[in-house]
Amino acid sequence: MAIMKVGVMASGRGSNFQAIIDAGLRGETPDVEISQLVVNKPQAYAIERAKKNSIPYEIVDSETMTRDEFDKEVMKIFEKRKIQIIVLAGFMRILTPPFIDKYKNKILNIHPSLLPAFPGAHAHRDAIAYGAKISGCTVHFVDEGVDSGPIIMQTSVEISKNETEDSLSEKILVHEHRMLPKALQLLCSGKVVLDGRKVTIKPD
Ligand code: GAR
Repeated sequence: MAIMKVGVMASGRGSNFQAIIDAGLRGETPDVEISQLVVNKPQAYAIERAKKNSIPYEIVDSETMTRDEFDKEVMKIFEKRKIQIIVLAGFMRILTPPFIDKYKNKILNIHPSLLPAFPGAHAHRDAIAYGAKISGCTVHFVDEGVDSGPIIMQTSVEISKNETEDSLSEKILVHEHRMLPKALQLLCSGKVVLDGRKVTIKPD
């Protein structure tokens, strides 16, 4: 299989974006070419990471346009760059159905909980408040719902007695950074098989 052109979308810090970059530099993602970053916030630190690594980036400020306009603009950017796979790496927005349809089963998201538990923007806080004893992270395909698409990979961590939102986030992030590049490489190398909403990984 040829190397896949990957577009990354981020809203902030971009440590998961960095994890993909670093895995590439270590030679762990031979079928991935990070071809474009799109951020929806002008102040997103992910931009600095793109600059440092000579990855083309675009800022599409979601505050200044409608949801439809935003998605159309991003689709234009990705079309121009011939993007084949999209990674939502801390991208805190819902995409519209035309966007999801265009890239059906080609969009990955990383979420800091064991889905379907605790979807949404406050996964750590929600898991602690609920009294869950374990949480973790999930890489999944993006469908039209909120964090509801087919699950590709999950890792669990324990929630300790005195856990805070920050400590849990830190604990889970280590696993996010390992899992996201792995899942991306599997997808780009054609090893991810989807049957209904069940994902299996083809053996080597
Ligand atoms: C990560 O923990 C990611 O799982 C989470 O935002 C953080 C972004 O960090 N995403 C969501 O909550 C999506 N619903 P990063 O910008 O350093 O990668």
